[in-house]
Amino acid sequence: MERIITSKELEDEQTGQLSLRPQKTSEYIGQDKVKERLNIFIQAAQRRGEPLDHVLLYGPPGLGKTTLANIIANEMDGDLKVTSGPAIERAGDLAAILTSLKTNDVLFIDEIHRLNRSVEEILYPAMEDYALDIVIGKGAAAKSIRLDLPAFTLIGATTRIGMLTAPLRDRFGVLCAMEYYTVDQLMEIVIRSALVLGCHITKEGAMEIARRSRGTPRIANRLLKRVRDYAEVYSDKLISLKEAKAGLEMLEVDDQGFDRVDNKILEAIIDTFNGGPVGIDTLSYFIGEELGTLEDVYEPYLLQKGFIIRTPRGRVATEKSYKHLGREMGKSKTKEEQNNFFND
Ligand SMILES: Nc1ncnc2c1ncn2[C@@H]1O[C@H](COP(=O)(O)OP(=O)(O)O)[C@@H](O)[C@H]1O
Ligand SMILES: [Mg+2]
Repeated sequence: MERIITSKELEDEQTGQLSLRPQKTSEYIGQDKVKERLNIFIQAAQRRGEPLDHVLLYGPPGLGKTTLANIIANEMDGDLKVTSGPAIERAGDLAAILTSLKTNDVLFIDEIHRLNRSVEEILYPAMEDYALDIVIGKGAAAKSIRLDLPAFTLIGATTRIGMLTAPLRDRFGVLCAMEYYTVDQLMEIVIRSALVLGCHITKEGAMEIARRSRGTPRIANRLLKRVRDYAEVYSDKLISLKEAKAGLEMLEVDDQGFDRVDNKILEAIIDTFNGGPVGIDTLSYFIGEELGTLEDVYEPYLLQKGFIIRTPRGRVATEKSYKHLGREMGKSKTKEEQNNFFND
């Protein structure tokens, strides 16, 4: 079954969501700190008649990195070329992309932490000196020649800043951390998206969806679409609090915006591992979810909301988690109960 909470892009969204993606800064809600910094850098660059310094956007999936890259390119009046770390297999692929750029163009590399090393090395002189070093010939006769590249801006996006190598990270002039959105901001996004989709939503309905979207616009839009489907059938297309609640319940998104996996994580820590600490890889193995998904999607939000904390020895459930699951804190399970759990 398709999972509703995933903040990865689902296939139908890559095409169908175009209209929901803000095109201008004025439509891009929230991320005030990031927007303010970029604004200053963009204006300064324009005054100097230079391209914008290279920008690295990092943070959990679905928070608006790709959208922002589009907007930056619009503001800089350059064309945007989009690619991604895993899509560039060989150094030659990247060299071809770089030589096709024009002055002021923006090259967007998504999932930049997944570039392979030999490709990455082409980027260093390209970012630093707008130059491309190519080696001609082999062995002792090999010669390296340097080609000039047009002055361009690289925008990198990553969900894992920790996986970037230091030389790559250091070549970005502007580092922007994307933050989770507040409920009010998400509500604004939901209302705007509803307008685009042509459905009627009350403030309370929008608020309910916003509250359960895990601080993530992509999830807010996805929940809105599914609730809209529900409302289409049951309430003549109006989404009020009642439809929002019923629709979300049907999607198995709980009051905190958690889905089954979130709850499985908390249950495992509390019921099986006595509240923790437990290592993330053990958890991943135990609940049968990919380690990467736990680290990128689930854990950051649970941490940010204070449902779990990170210790050197692993993850620990907080009182909030016990309350959420209706468990009593400090009341650990007996060995026998734990064994039963494993044997289930
Ligand atoms: N600041 C924002 N304001 C309004 N909608 C947004 C905003 N950020 C993201 N979105 C919506 O969420 C979707 C996911 O954003 P995207 O830029 O693809 O996230 P990321 O690249 O960080 O995974 C977009 O298609 C857009 O509809
Ligand atoms: Mg993206």
